[in-house]
Amino acid sequence: MRYIDVENLTFYYDKEPVLENISYHVDSGEFVTLTGENGAAKSTLIKSTLGILHPKHGKVTLSPKNDRGEKLRLAYLPQQVASFNAGFPSSVREFVTSGRYPRRGWFKKLNAHDEEHVKTALKAVGMWDYRNHRIGELSGGQKQRIAIARMFASDPDLFILDEPTTGMDDVSSADFYQLMHHAAHTHGKSVLMVTHDPDEVKAFADRNIHLYKDQNGKFACFDLHTDREKVKVKEVTHA
Ligand SMILES: Nc1ncnc2c1ncn2[C@@H]1O[C@H](COP(=O)(O)OP(=O)(O)O)[C@@H](O)[C@H]1O
Ligand SMILES: [Mg+2]
Repeated sequence: MRYIDVENLTFYYDKEPVLENISYHVDSGEFVTLTGENGAAKSTLIKSTLGILHPKHGKVTLSPKNDRGEKLRLAYLPQQVASFNAGFPSSVREFVTSGRYPRRGWFKKLNAHDEEHVKTALKAVGMWDYRNHRIGELSGGQKQRIAIARMFASDPDLFILDEPTTGMDDVSSADFYQLMHHAAHTHGKSVLMVTHDPDEVKAFADRNIHLYKDQNGKFACFDLHTDREKVKVKEVTHA
């Protein structure tokens, strides 16, 4: 089922086009990576897809329902979440538990099922032993992990992740990719993940979308690799 459908998206910062005529889609049950050099407008594309930024032209459709006919739940992990304020007063467990509230409603007491989700999420990122630590005591990589745990605790259908493994070592990153692969293939989740290291993720992802600029450094074009074969989908040419 199509969860994200973007058609001919063009985005400008002031008068500067950073994305031109970009089309892509992401379906349920697939793990898709988004690559491109620094400044290729990966984060801008994600934010335009989410409606945080408003494209100049084009159409963005996010499915209102998941593949079971329920309201689609989306989780967005922005780039550099690890930079939370060192004085953040919550414990790790409180912070991750807060990911359950949108699901329960703010005034409903959390039950054993919620607690179980929080525990599973913290274990999945290797942070269960830190559950009673204050967030301010954690390293950047650990903060990144609990942000991921909070997102898992909310149990979304669609994950939109902007360089989620920043600050993690290679083993933890690989574990994370494995987990996202599992989420997509076993639980029918949909994952769109920006990554700076496509080689590292190759073994886990179903498809890669590559954003690049032309010779003049001006226009973003689009490449799509399906089953790791490079298939050119769209190229924008300008006089
Ligand atoms: N708020 C902004 N205002 C103006 N230009 C921006 C803004 N944010 C990003 N840019 C520019 O847009 C381009 C794409 O940025 P970004 O989407 O962050 O790229 P990426 O995530 O691929 O590194 C870059 O040239 C960047 O300098
Ligand atoms: Mg970025």
